[in-house]
Amino acid sequence: MQKNLFRLVLAGALALVGCGGGGGDDPAVDAGADVYVPPAISKPFPADFLWGTATAAYQVETGLDGTDWHQWEQKGKVIDGDKSGAPDRADDGPAMETHYAADLDRARALGNNTYRFEMAMARLFPTRAALTSATPDPTALAYYRALLAACKSRGIVPMVTLHHFVWPTWIHDVDDVATKGGWASESTITDFTNFATWSAKTFGADVDLWVTINEPMVYVINGYLGGQFPPGNFLQVEKALTVAYNMIEGHARAYDAIHANDTMDADGDGKPALVSIANHNRVMQPKNPADAMDRRAAELLQKLSNRVFFDAATGGNIDKNFDGDYDDPGDKKADPRLMNRMDYLGVNYYGLAVVQYIGNENSFPVIGIPRFELLETPWDKTEFNWDIYPQGLREVLDEMKGYQLPIYITENGIADRDEEQRSRFLVEHLYELQRAMADGIDVRGYYHWSLVDNFEWSAGYCPRFGLYAVDFSKPDKPRSEGAAARLYQRIIAERTVSPDLFRTLPPYPLQLYEESCPVLSPL
Ligand code: NOJ
Repeated sequence: MQKNLFRLVLAGALALVGCGGGGGDDPAVDAGADVYVPPAISKPFPADFLWGTATAAYQVETGLDGTDWHQWEQKGKVIDGDKSGAPDRADDGPAMETHYAADLDRARALGNNTYRFEMAMARLFPTRAALTSATPDPTALAYYRALLAACKSRGIVPMVTLHHFVWPTWIHDVDDVATKGGWASESTITDFTNFATWSAKTFGADVDLWVTINEPMVYVINGYLGGQFPPGNFLQVEKALTVAYNMIEGHARAYDAIHANDTMDADGDGKPALVSIANHNRVMQPKNPADAMDRRAAELLQKLSNRVFFDAATGGNIDKNFDGDYDDPGDKKADPRLMNRMDYLGVNYYGLAVVQYIGNENSFPVIGIPRFELLETPWDKTEFNWDIYPQGLREVLDEMKGYQLPIYITENGIADRDEEQRSRFLVEHLYELQRAMADGIDVRGYYHWSLVDNFEWSAGYCPRFGLYAVDFSKPDKPRSEGAAARLYQRIIAERTVSPDLFRTLPPYPLQLYEESCPVLSPL
Protein backbone atom coordinates (compact mmCIF):
# COMPACT_ATOMS: atom_id res chain seq x y z
CA MET A 1 0.00 0.00 0.00
CA GLN A 2 2.60 2.43 1.14
CA LYS A 3 4.65 1.77 -1.97
CA ASN A 4 1.67 2.56 -4.17
CA LEU A 5 1.13 5.74 -2.29
CA PHE A 6 4.76 6.68 -2.69
CA ARG A 7 4.53 6.28 -6.45
CA LEU A 8 1.38 8.27 -6.53
CA VAL A 9 2.69 11.20 -4.57
CA LEU A 10 5.84 11.30 -6.63
CA ALA A 11 3.72 11.48 -9.70
CA GLY A 12 1.63 14.14 -8.05
CA ALA A 13 4.78 16.08 -7.31
CA LEU A 14 5.67 16.09 -10.94
CA ALA A 15 2.15 17.01 -11.94
CA LEU A 16 1.55 19.86 -9.63
CA VAL A 17 4.86 21.58 -9.25
CA GLY A 18 3.11 24.60 -10.62
CA CYS A 19 5.20 26.22 -10.37
CA GLY A 20 2.39 22.69 -12.34
CA GLY A 21 -23.83 21.62 -24.23
CA GLY A 22 -24.59 25.05 -22.84
CA GLY A 23 -28.21 26.08 -22.91
CA GLY A 24 -28.87 22.78 -24.66
CA ASP A 25 -26.95 23.77 -27.80
CA ASP A 26 -24.34 21.55 -29.42
CA PRO A 27 -20.98 23.07 -30.34
CA ALA A 28 -20.64 23.83 -34.05
CA VAL A 29 -18.02 25.18 -36.37
CA ASP A 30 -18.67 28.41 -38.19
CA ALA A 31 -18.97 27.48 -41.86
CA GLY A 32 -16.54 29.20 -44.12
CA ALA A 33 -14.10 30.19 -41.42
CA ASP A 34 -11.09 28.41 -40.13
CA VAL A 35 -11.80 29.68 -36.69
CA TYR A 36 -13.93 27.66 -34.33
CA VAL A 37 -17.06 29.59 -33.40
CA PRO A 38 -19.34 27.96 -30.85
CA PRO A 39 -23.08 28.51 -30.65
CA ALA A 40 -24.56 31.31 -28.58
CA ILE A 41 -25.57 30.36 -25.04
CA SER A 42 -29.12 31.41 -24.40
CA LYS A 43 -28.80 31.94 -20.66
CA PRO A 44 -26.69 34.92 -19.52
CA PHE A 45 -24.60 35.03 -16.36
CA PRO A 46 -26.86 36.02 -13.46
CA ALA A 47 -27.10 39.71 -12.60
CA ASP A 48 -25.66 39.07 -9.13
CA PHE A 49 -22.73 37.00 -10.38
CA LEU A 50 -19.42 37.93 -8.73
CA TRP A 51 -16.75 39.04 -11.21
CA GLY A 52 -13.29 39.62 -9.88
CA THR A 53 -9.60 39.02 -9.76
CA ALA A 54 -7.41 37.33 -7.17
CA THR A 55 -4.02 38.06 -5.60
CA ALA A 56 -1.96 36.81 -2.65
CA ALA A 57 -0.05 39.03 -0.20
CA TYR A 58 3.45 37.79 -0.86
CA GLN A 59 2.96 38.03 -4.59
CA VAL A 60 1.90 41.68 -4.62
CA GLU A 61 3.03 43.37 -1.39
CA THR A 62 6.44 44.60 -0.32
CA GLY A 63 8.23 44.10 2.96
CA LEU A 64 7.19 40.62 4.01
CA ASP A 65 10.66 39.90 5.32
CA GLY A 66 9.75 37.88 8.39
CA THR A 67 8.60 34.93 6.31
CA ASP A 68 9.76 31.53 5.16
CA TRP A 69 9.55 32.73 1.55
CA HIS A 70 11.91 35.60 2.30
CA GLN A 71 14.34 33.04 3.71
CA TRP A 72 13.80 30.98 0.58
CA GLU A 73 14.70 33.91 -1.64
CA GLN A 74 17.86 34.56 0.36
CA LYS A 75 18.91 31.00 -0.35
CA GLY A 76 18.77 31.66 -4.09
CA LYS A 77 15.75 29.49 -4.66
CA VAL A 78 14.01 31.90 -7.01
CA ILE A 79 14.92 32.31 -10.66
CA ASP A 80 17.16 35.29 -11.42
CA GLY A 81 17.42 36.13 -7.73
CA ASP A 82 13.98 37.76 -7.97
CA LYS A 83 12.48 38.86 -4.69
CA SER A 84 8.98 39.64 -3.62
CA GLY A 85 8.98 43.38 -3.26
CA ALA A 86 11.96 43.42 -0.94
CA PRO A 87 12.64 46.90 0.35
CA ASP A 88 16.29 46.63 -0.68
CA ARG A 89 15.27 45.95 -4.27
CA ALA A 90 13.21 48.89 -5.39
CA ASP A 91 12.77 47.34 -8.81
CA ASP A 92 10.80 44.35 -7.61
CA GLY A 93 7.12 43.78 -6.91
CA PRO A 94 3.94 45.60 -7.87
CA ALA A 95 3.78 47.25 -4.40
CA MET A 96 0.07 46.80 -4.09
CA GLU A 97 0.00 48.36 -0.64
CA THR A 98 0.77 51.74 -2.15
CA HIS A 99 -1.23 51.21 -5.36
CA TYR A 100 -4.30 49.44 -4.01
CA ALA A 101 -6.71 52.36 -4.44
CA ALA A 102 -5.77 52.90 -8.07
CA ASP A 103 -5.73 49.14 -8.69
CA LEU A 104 -9.21 48.77 -7.23
CA ASP A 105 -10.32 51.67 -9.44
CA ARG A 106 -9.02 49.67 -12.37
CA ALA A 107 -10.89 46.58 -11.19
CA ARG A 108 -14.06 48.58 -10.75
CA ALA A 109 -13.70 50.13 -14.19
CA LEU A 110 -13.70 46.59 -15.58
CA GLY A 111 -17.03 46.05 -13.86
CA ASN A 112 -15.56 43.89 -11.11
CA ASN A 113 -17.70 43.58 -8.02
CA THR A 114 -15.39 41.33 -6.00
CA TYR A 115 -11.69 40.99 -5.19
CA ARG A 116 -9.90 38.08 -3.56
CA PHE A 117 -6.81 38.91 -1.51
CA GLU A 118 -4.81 37.50 1.37
CA MET A 119 -4.30 39.12 4.73
CA ALA A 120 -0.67 38.39 5.49
CA MET A 121 -0.34 36.86 8.93
CA ALA A 122 3.36 37.78 8.99
CA ARG A 123 2.57 41.46 8.47
CA LEU A 124 -0.21 41.53 11.06
CA PHE A 125 1.50 39.38 13.67
CA PRO A 126 5.29 39.45 13.61
CA THR A 127 5.41 37.28 16.76
CA ARG A 128 3.31 34.55 18.36
CA ALA A 129 2.91 36.73 21.45
CA ALA A 130 1.32 39.43 19.30
CA LEU A 131 -1.21 36.90 18.01
CA THR A 132 -2.04 35.31 21.35
CA SER A 133 -2.54 38.74 22.91
CA ALA A 134 -4.50 39.85 19.82
CA THR A 135 -2.18 42.83 19.36
CA PRO A 136 -1.63 43.26 15.64
CA ASP A 137 0.96 45.54 14.12
CA PRO A 138 -0.93 48.86 13.89
CA THR A 139 0.37 49.75 10.43
CA ALA A 140 -0.62 46.36 9.05
CA LEU A 141 -4.03 46.55 10.66
CA ALA A 142 -4.57 50.03 9.25
CA TYR A 143 -3.57 48.77 5.80
CA TYR A 144 -6.02 45.90 5.72
CA ARG A 145 -8.78 48.09 7.14
CA ALA A 146 -8.07 50.64 4.41
CA LEU A 147 -8.10 47.92 1.77
CA LEU A 148 -11.47 46.68 2.98
CA ALA A 149 -12.82 50.22 3.11
CA ALA A 150 -11.56 50.81 -0.43
CA CYS A 151 -13.38 47.69 -1.57
CA LYS A 152 -16.56 48.77 0.16
CA SER A 153 -16.59 52.28 -1.25
CA ARG A 154 -16.27 50.81 -4.75
CA GLY A 155 -18.97 48.18 -4.32
CA ILE A 156 -16.38 45.41 -4.35
CA VAL A 157 -17.12 42.33 -2.25
CA PRO A 158 -13.96 41.07 -0.54
CA MET A 159 -13.00 37.42 -0.48
CA VAL A 160 -10.27 37.00 2.13
CA THR A 161 -7.62 34.25 2.14
CA LEU A 162 -5.90 33.43 5.42
CA HIS A 163 -3.05 31.24 4.21
CA HIS A 164 -1.57 31.46 0.74
CA PHE A 165 1.66 29.41 0.82
CA VAL A 166 3.59 31.75 3.17
CA TRP A 167 4.23 31.58 6.92
CA PRO A 168 5.85 33.99 9.34
CA THR A 169 9.21 32.58 10.45
CA TRP A 170 7.92 32.17 13.99
CA ILE A 171 5.68 29.44 12.56
CA HIS A 172 7.90 28.08 9.81
CA ASP A 173 11.63 28.72 9.95
CA VAL A 174 13.43 27.09 7.06
CA ASP A 175 16.60 26.98 9.17
CA ASP A 176 14.90 25.49 12.18
CA VAL A 177 12.11 23.23 11.01
CA ALA A 178 12.54 21.01 14.06
CA THR A 179 11.02 23.66 16.32
CA LYS A 180 9.16 25.80 13.79
CA GLY A 181 7.84 23.32 11.27
CA GLY A 182 4.89 25.15 9.70
CA TRP A 183 2.12 22.78 8.74
CA ALA A 184 4.37 19.86 9.73
CA SER A 185 3.93 20.92 13.40
CA GLU A 186 0.67 20.30 15.18
CA SER A 187 1.04 23.59 17.08
CA THR A 188 0.46 25.37 13.78
CA ILE A 189 -3.16 24.23 13.86
CA THR A 190 -3.60 26.25 17.06
CA ASP A 191 -1.78 29.29 15.66
CA PHE A 192 -3.84 29.17 12.49
CA THR A 193 -7.07 28.80 14.44
CA ASN A 194 -6.11 31.79 16.57
CA PHE A 195 -5.46 33.80 13.43
CA ALA A 196 -8.83 32.75 11.99
CA THR A 197 -10.56 33.70 15.25
CA TRP A 198 -8.93 37.11 15.35
CA SER A 199 -9.59 37.75 11.63
CA ALA A 200 -13.26 36.79 11.90
CA LYS A 201 -13.75 38.98 14.98
CA THR A 202 -11.87 41.91 13.54
CA PHE A 203 -13.12 41.90 9.96
CA GLY A 204 -16.36 39.94 10.15
CA ALA A 205 -18.49 43.06 9.72
CA ASP A 206 -16.92 43.61 6.29
CA VAL A 207 -16.12 40.10 5.14
CA ASP A 208 -18.48 37.22 4.39
CA LEU A 209 -16.39 35.19 1.95
CA TRP A 210 -13.43 33.38 3.49
CA VAL A 211 -10.77 31.07 2.09
CA THR A 212 -8.88 29.34 4.87
CA ILE A 213 -6.09 27.74 2.85
CA ASN A 214 -5.00 28.20 -0.74
CA GLU A 215 -4.13 25.12 -2.82
CA PRO A 216 -3.28 22.80 0.06
CA MET A 217 -2.24 19.92 -2.16
CA VAL A 218 0.06 22.12 -4.23
CA TYR A 219 1.61 23.32 -0.98
CA VAL A 220 2.17 19.75 0.21
CA ILE A 221 3.59 18.65 -3.10
CA ASN A 222 5.83 21.62 -3.79
CA GLY A 223 7.14 21.86 -0.25
CA TYR A 224 7.56 18.22 0.70
CA LEU A 225 7.70 16.18 -2.51
CA GLY A 226 8.87 18.42 -5.32
CA GLY A 227 11.21 20.71 -3.37
CA GLN A 228 10.26 24.00 -5.05
CA PHE A 229 8.67 25.65 -2.02
CA PRO A 230 10.11 26.01 1.46
CA PRO A 231 11.22 23.89 3.22
CA GLY A 232 12.33 22.29 -0.06
CA ASN A 233 11.93 18.67 0.95
CA PHE A 234 12.16 16.17 -1.84
CA LEU A 235 9.98 13.06 -1.70
CA GLN A 236 9.44 13.17 2.06
CA VAL A 237 6.29 11.10 1.79
CA GLU A 238 5.57 10.60 5.49
CA LYS A 239 6.13 14.25 6.22
CA ALA A 240 3.95 15.23 3.29
CA LEU A 241 1.15 13.14 4.74
CA THR A 242 1.57 14.77 8.15
CA VAL A 243 1.45 18.19 6.52
CA ALA A 244 -1.65 17.27 4.51
CA TYR A 245 -3.55 15.98 7.53
CA ASN A 246 -2.54 18.96 9.66
CA MET A 247 -3.87 21.20 6.90
CA ILE A 248 -7.14 19.27 6.80
CA GLU A 249 -7.45 19.63 10.56
CA GLY A 250 -6.31 23.27 10.35
CA HIS A 251 -9.05 24.04 7.86
CA ALA A 252 -11.72 22.40 10.03
CA ARG A 253 -10.66 24.28 13.16
CA ALA A 254 -10.39 27.59 11.25
CA TYR A 255 -13.84 26.93 9.75
CA ASP A 256 -15.29 26.56 13.26
CA ALA A 257 -13.42 29.62 14.49
CA ILE A 258 -14.69 31.79 11.64
CA HIS A 259 -18.28 30.70 12.13
CA ALA A 260 -18.06 31.24 15.88
CA ASN A 261 -16.62 34.74 15.54
CA ASP A 262 -17.93 36.24 12.31
CA THR A 263 -21.53 36.85 13.28
CA MET A 264 -21.99 39.99 11.17
CA ASP A 265 -23.67 39.65 7.81
CA ALA A 266 -21.73 42.05 5.58
CA ASP A 267 -23.84 41.69 2.44
CA GLY A 268 -27.27 41.18 3.95
CA ASP A 269 -27.92 37.73 2.53
CA GLY A 270 -28.54 36.29 5.96
CA LYS A 271 -25.21 34.44 6.03
CA PRO A 272 -22.40 36.10 8.00
CA ALA A 273 -19.71 33.76 6.74
CA LEU A 274 -19.13 31.37 3.86
CA VAL A 275 -15.93 29.39 4.28
CA SER A 276 -13.94 27.12 1.96
CA ILE A 277 -10.47 26.42 0.67
CA ALA A 278 -9.22 27.33 -2.81
CA ASN A 279 -8.30 23.97 -4.28
CA HIS A 280 -6.12 23.44 -7.34
CA ASN A 281 -8.30 21.30 -9.60
CA ARG A 282 -6.61 19.77 -12.58
CA VAL A 283 -7.80 17.42 -15.27
CA MET A 284 -5.59 14.35 -15.56
CA GLN A 285 -5.83 12.62 -18.91
CA PRO A 286 -4.47 9.16 -19.68
CA LYS A 287 -1.80 9.31 -22.36
CA ASN A 288 -3.32 6.25 -23.95
CA PRO A 289 -7.02 6.06 -23.15
CA ALA A 290 -7.04 2.42 -24.27
CA ASP A 291 -4.45 1.52 -21.63
CA ALA A 292 -6.11 0.53 -18.37
CA MET A 293 -3.04 1.44 -16.29
CA ASP A 294 -2.76 4.90 -17.82
CA ARG A 295 -6.44 5.37 -17.10
CA ARG A 296 -6.04 4.18 -13.52
CA ALA A 297 -3.03 6.41 -12.94
CA ALA A 298 -4.89 9.44 -14.29
CA GLU A 299 -7.94 8.65 -12.17
CA LEU A 300 -5.92 8.36 -8.98
CA LEU A 301 -3.96 11.52 -9.63
CA GLN A 302 -7.10 13.47 -10.35
CA LYS A 303 -8.54 12.27 -7.05
CA LEU A 304 -5.33 13.24 -5.25
CA SER A 305 -5.36 16.68 -6.79
CA ASN A 306 -9.05 17.50 -6.81
CA ARG A 307 -10.89 15.58 -4.15
CA VAL A 308 -8.76 14.63 -1.14
CA PHE A 309 -9.30 17.91 0.70
CA PHE A 310 -12.92 18.31 -0.35
CA ASP A 311 -13.70 14.72 0.67
CA ALA A 312 -12.23 15.32 4.10
CA ALA A 313 -13.95 18.65 4.68
CA THR A 314 -17.36 17.62 3.36
CA GLY A 315 -17.76 13.96 4.27
CA GLY A 316 -15.06 13.71 6.97
CA ASN A 317 -13.41 10.95 4.94
CA ILE A 318 -9.68 10.28 4.77
CA ASP A 319 -8.24 7.40 2.79
CA LYS A 320 -4.74 7.63 4.20
CA ASN A 321 -3.15 4.92 2.08
CA PHE A 322 -5.20 5.85 -0.94
CA ASP A 323 -6.49 2.34 -1.54
CA GLY A 324 -10.10 3.34 -2.12
CA ASP A 325 -11.53 2.30 1.26
CA TYR A 326 -11.68 3.83 4.72
CA ASP A 327 -10.81 0.90 6.96
CA ASP A 328 -7.02 1.05 7.23
CA PRO A 329 -4.95 2.56 10.05
CA GLY A 330 -5.16 6.33 9.86
CA ASP A 331 -8.25 6.27 7.67
CA LYS A 332 -11.30 8.22 8.77
CA LYS A 333 -14.91 7.75 7.82
CA ALA A 334 -17.43 10.52 8.46
CA ASP A 335 -15.25 12.05 11.18
CA PRO A 336 -17.52 14.57 12.95
CA ARG A 337 -14.55 16.87 13.68
CA LEU A 338 -13.83 17.23 9.98
CA MET A 339 -17.08 16.84 8.08
CA ASN A 340 -19.54 19.52 6.97
CA ARG A 341 -16.80 22.18 6.99
CA MET A 342 -17.35 23.55 3.47
CA ASP A 343 -19.94 26.19 2.66
CA TYR A 344 -18.89 26.38 -0.97
CA LEU A 345 -16.16 24.90 -3.14
CA GLY A 346 -13.31 27.21 -4.09
CA VAL A 347 -11.86 25.92 -7.35
CA ASN A 348 -8.64 27.14 -8.94
CA TYR A 349 -8.44 25.89 -12.53
CA TYR A 350 -5.49 26.27 -14.88
CA GLY A 351 -5.40 23.23 -17.16
CA LEU A 352 -4.60 19.58 -17.58
CA ALA A 353 -1.81 17.09 -17.33
CA VAL A 354 -1.37 13.98 -19.41
CA VAL A 355 -0.54 10.87 -17.43
CA GLN A 356 1.37 7.80 -18.48
CA TYR A 357 1.83 4.78 -16.28
CA ILE A 358 5.25 3.26 -16.70
CA GLY A 359 4.48 -0.23 -15.65
CA ASN A 360 6.73 -2.09 -13.36
CA GLU A 361 6.78 -2.66 -9.62
CA ASN A 362 9.03 0.27 -8.81
CA SER A 363 7.73 2.83 -11.18
CA PHE A 364 5.03 5.42 -11.09
CA PRO A 365 2.71 7.33 -13.36
CA VAL A 366 4.45 9.99 -15.40
CA ILE A 367 2.84 13.34 -15.92
CA GLY A 368 2.95 15.32 -19.10
CA ILE A 369 4.08 18.77 -18.21
CA PRO A 370 6.51 19.53 -21.00
CA ARG A 371 9.02 21.37 -18.88
CA PHE A 372 9.79 18.08 -17.22
CA GLU A 373 10.35 16.65 -20.70
CA LEU A 374 8.19 13.73 -19.78
CA LEU A 375 5.49 13.67 -22.38
CA GLU A 376 4.65 15.69 -25.41
CA THR A 377 1.03 16.75 -25.33
CA PRO A 378 -1.08 17.95 -28.23
CA TRP A 379 -2.41 21.07 -26.54
CA ASP A 380 -1.53 24.72 -26.99
CA LYS A 381 0.80 25.99 -24.31
CA THR A 382 1.08 29.03 -22.08
CA GLU A 383 4.43 30.77 -21.68
CA PHE A 384 4.84 28.59 -18.61
CA ASN A 385 4.39 25.60 -20.91
CA TRP A 386 1.15 24.65 -19.23
CA ASP A 387 -1.40 22.96 -21.43
CA ILE A 388 -4.38 25.14 -22.38
CA TYR A 389 -7.56 23.11 -21.95
CA PRO A 390 -10.69 25.23 -21.47
CA GLN A 391 -13.10 22.29 -21.66
CA GLY A 392 -11.34 20.98 -18.55
CA LEU A 393 -13.03 23.74 -16.59
CA ARG A 394 -16.33 22.10 -17.49
CA GLU A 395 -14.92 18.69 -16.63
CA VAL A 396 -13.83 19.72 -13.14
CA LEU A 397 -17.15 21.49 -12.58
CA ASP A 398 -18.96 18.29 -13.52
CA GLU A 399 -16.69 16.44 -11.11
CA MET A 400 -17.50 18.90 -8.32
CA LYS A 401 -21.28 18.69 -8.85
CA GLY A 402 -21.42 15.61 -6.67
CA TYR A 403 -20.62 17.67 -3.56
CA GLN A 404 -23.85 19.62 -4.01
CA LEU A 405 -22.33 22.90 -2.87
CA PRO A 406 -22.13 26.26 -4.62
CA ILE A 407 -18.86 26.82 -6.45
CA TYR A 408 -16.64 29.86 -6.85
CA ILE A 409 -13.85 29.80 -9.42
CA THR A 410 -11.31 31.26 -7.03
CA GLU A 411 -8.55 31.41 -9.69
CA ASN A 412 -8.12 30.97 -13.44
CA GLY A 413 -5.53 32.64 -15.60
CA ILE A 414 -2.55 32.42 -17.91
CA ALA A 415 1.09 33.44 -17.98
CA ASP A 416 1.36 35.59 -21.11
CA ARG A 417 3.97 38.30 -21.17
CA ASP A 418 3.19 39.44 -24.71
CA GLU A 419 -0.57 39.48 -24.23
CA GLU A 420 -0.95 37.22 -27.25
CA GLN A 421 -2.98 34.49 -25.60
CA ARG A 422 -4.79 35.92 -22.59
CA SER A 423 -7.80 37.20 -24.55
CA ARG A 424 -8.52 33.85 -26.17
CA PHE A 425 -7.87 32.03 -22.91
CA LEU A 426 -10.30 34.27 -21.05
CA VAL A 427 -13.02 33.99 -23.67
CA GLU A 428 -12.72 30.22 -23.97
CA HIS A 429 -12.80 29.64 -20.22
CA LEU A 430 -15.67 32.03 -19.58
CA TYR A 431 -17.58 30.40 -22.41
CA GLU A 432 -17.17 27.00 -20.75
CA LEU A 433 -18.24 28.52 -17.46
CA GLN A 434 -21.35 30.13 -18.91
CA ARG A 435 -22.25 26.86 -20.62
CA ALA A 436 -21.81 24.91 -17.40
CA MET A 437 -24.00 27.36 -15.54
CA ALA A 438 -26.63 27.29 -18.27
CA ASP A 439 -26.66 23.53 -17.77
CA GLY A 440 -27.44 24.04 -14.11
CA ILE A 441 -24.09 24.00 -12.30
CA ASP A 442 -24.28 26.42 -9.39
CA VAL A 443 -21.30 28.76 -9.80
CA ARG A 444 -21.48 32.06 -7.93
CA GLY A 445 -18.31 33.87 -8.94
CA TYR A 446 -15.18 33.97 -11.08
CA TYR A 447 -11.81 35.40 -10.03
CA HIS A 448 -9.25 35.91 -12.76
CA TRP A 449 -5.64 35.38 -11.75
CA SER A 450 -4.51 38.08 -11.61
CA LEU A 451 -5.24 41.79 -11.45
CA VAL A 452 -1.62 42.90 -11.92
CA ASP A 453 1.61 41.09 -12.82
CA ASN A 454 3.18 39.67 -9.70
CA PHE A 455 5.75 37.41 -8.07
CA GLU A 456 5.23 33.86 -9.32
CA TRP A 457 6.97 31.93 -6.53
CA SER A 458 10.11 30.11 -7.61
CA ALA A 459 9.66 31.39 -11.17
CA GLY A 460 9.99 34.98 -9.93
CA TYR A 461 8.81 37.71 -12.29
CA CYS A 462 9.19 35.73 -15.49
CA PRO A 463 5.56 34.58 -15.92
CA ARG A 464 3.16 37.48 -16.30
CA PHE A 465 -0.37 36.72 -15.17
CA GLY A 466 -1.74 40.27 -14.88
CA LEU A 467 -4.70 41.79 -16.71
CA TYR A 468 -2.55 44.86 -16.07
CA ALA A 469 1.13 44.61 -16.94
CA VAL A 470 3.54 46.14 -14.43
CA ASP A 471 6.82 47.77 -15.37
CA PHE A 472 8.88 46.55 -12.44
CA SER A 473 11.96 48.48 -13.55
CA LYS A 474 10.42 51.84 -12.68
CA PRO A 475 10.14 52.98 -9.07
CA ASP A 476 6.46 53.88 -9.40
CA LYS A 477 5.64 50.45 -10.93
CA PRO A 478 3.38 51.80 -13.68
CA ARG A 479 0.51 49.60 -14.81
CA SER A 480 -0.66 49.24 -18.37
CA GLU A 481 -3.89 47.66 -19.43
CA GLY A 482 -3.76 44.57 -21.61
CA ALA A 483 -6.27 43.68 -24.33
CA ALA A 484 -7.83 40.95 -22.21
CA ALA A 485 -8.85 43.48 -19.56
CA ARG A 486 -11.11 45.24 -22.06
CA LEU A 487 -12.54 41.94 -23.15
CA TYR A 488 -13.25 40.98 -19.55
CA GLN A 489 -15.03 44.31 -19.16
CA ARG A 490 -17.18 43.63 -22.23
CA ILE A 491 -18.16 40.12 -21.11
CA ILE A 492 -19.07 41.40 -17.66
CA ALA A 493 -21.16 44.23 -19.11
CA GLU A 494 -22.94 41.95 -21.60
CA ARG A 495 -23.21 39.08 -19.08
CA THR A 496 -22.52 36.69 -21.91
CA VAL A 497 -19.65 35.37 -23.99
CA SER A 498 -20.77 36.26 -27.45
CA PRO A 499 -19.68 33.78 -30.15
CA ASP A 500 -18.58 36.82 -32.16
CA LEU A 501 -15.67 37.16 -29.79
CA PHE A 502 -14.23 33.91 -31.09
CA ARG A 503 -14.11 35.38 -34.60
CA THR A 504 -12.00 38.29 -33.47
CA LEU A 505 -9.37 36.29 -31.64
CA PRO A 506 -6.38 34.82 -33.41
CA PRO A 507 -5.49 31.22 -32.55
CA TYR A 508 -2.88 30.61 -29.88
CA PRO A 509 0.48 31.34 -31.45
CA LEU A 510 2.49 28.61 -29.83
CA GLN A 511 2.52 24.90 -29.42
CA LEU A 512 5.50 24.81 -27.13
CA TYR A 513 7.69 27.61 -25.89
CA GLU A 514 11.28 26.66 -26.42
CA GLU A 515 12.25 29.34 -23.97
CA SER A 516 9.50 29.12 -21.43
CA CYS A 517 9.90 30.58 -18.00
CA PRO A 518 12.50 28.44 -16.29
CA VAL A 519 11.93 26.46 -13.15
CA LEU A 520 14.74 25.61 -10.76
CA SER A 521 15.43 21.95 -10.38
CA PRO A 522 14.37 20.65 -7.01
CA LEU A 523 17.59 18.66 -6.75
C1 NOJ B 1 -2.22 29.27 -8.07
C2 NOJ B 1 -1.64 29.95 -6.88
O1 NOJ B 1 -2.62 30.05 -5.87
C3 NOJ B 1 -1.08 31.34 -7.18
O2 NOJ B 1 -0.35 31.76 -6.08
C4 NOJ B 1 -0.23 31.27 -8.44
O3 NOJ B 1 0.37 32.49 -8.71
C5 NOJ B 1 -1.11 30.85 -9.59
N1 NOJ B 1 -1.61 29.52 -9.33
C6 NOJ B 1 -0.38 30.80 -10.93
O4 NOJ B 1 0.58 29.80 -10.88
